Amino acid sequence: MKKIIFVTAASLVMLSGCSQVQEWSEDLFGQKQQESQEKEPNVQAPDNGQDEQAVPEQPEETVPEELQLESRYFNDVKEVDGKQVIQNPANLLALVNKEYALDEYKPADLVRPNVPFVFGNQELEKAHLRKEAAEQLEKMFADAKAKGVFLTAISGYRSYEYQKMLLEREIAQFGEEKAVMAVAPPGQSEHQSGLAMDISSESNQFQVNIEFAETKEGKWLAENAYKYGFILRYPEDKVSVTQYQYEPWHYRYVGMDAAKVIHENDWTLEEYFKNVKKI
Ligand code: DAL
Ligand code: ZN
Repeated sequence: MKKIIFVTAASLVMLSGCSQVQEWSEDLFGQKQQESQEKEPNVQAPDNGQDEQAVPEQPEETVPEELQLESRYFNDVKEVDGKQVIQNPANLLALVNKEYALDEYKPADLVRPNVPFVFGNQELEKAHLRKEAAEQLEKMFADAKAKGVFLTAISGYRSYEYQKMLLEREIAQFGEEKAVMAVAPPGQSEHQSGLAMDISSESNQFQVNIEFAETKEGKWLAENAYKYGFILRYPEDKVSVTQYQYEPWHYRYVGMDAAKVIHENDWTLEEYFKNVKKI
């Protein structure tokens, strides 16, 4: 009796197993049929004696080398108190804007570039940039000078606290609506990354205003800064992308490779990241 029950149970298992297998084959078959209906044109394939025709492989999408970017250069972001905070702020390509914040980050390799500052030799926080950016800034200023283009550095690294004061002052002077188009919130300024420098010239009375764009210095920078790894960060025709007013004086270091691609394509840093492929 026990044996009979066992056999019956085994048959049941087998039966249920069979039915599962059957469902699978039906699924596969059904899918295959559907695929062949979609793919095969209504033409009889010539009988070449082979069971299956070789399907030519689709060539992989080829992304030009200059648009391939290592993953470490992308923002690594974590939401903190409703803000998108960059976890790898020392990344030379950090995308700092109204969406992505640095929080209270301070770069570890700030140095004072050997270039003329509007405030002379005073030892101020804003006389600093990160080392690589500072070295490239020195080269850019020296090459410009050799061509009769006299650049003056106005403002480089700014701490969270200093940026906070700047925004509050701007709001008090011009109102919130205008202020937020000109000055970044604390924790969200590129100046805090140590990779941005405001530049002007004696020919523009050392002012950072749109008139700078029309000076010899402003024009030289717009045409040549990318060769040193700097980009014009807030172009006139990209206000809707950057969310900041036109700032012909604000240059951001991104390194020579990215700067060249951005300059040649007339992109912002935001657009660059939309177009590059993470590798
Ligand atoms: N003026 C730029 C947007 C800044 O404050 O960082
Ligand atoms: Zn600036």
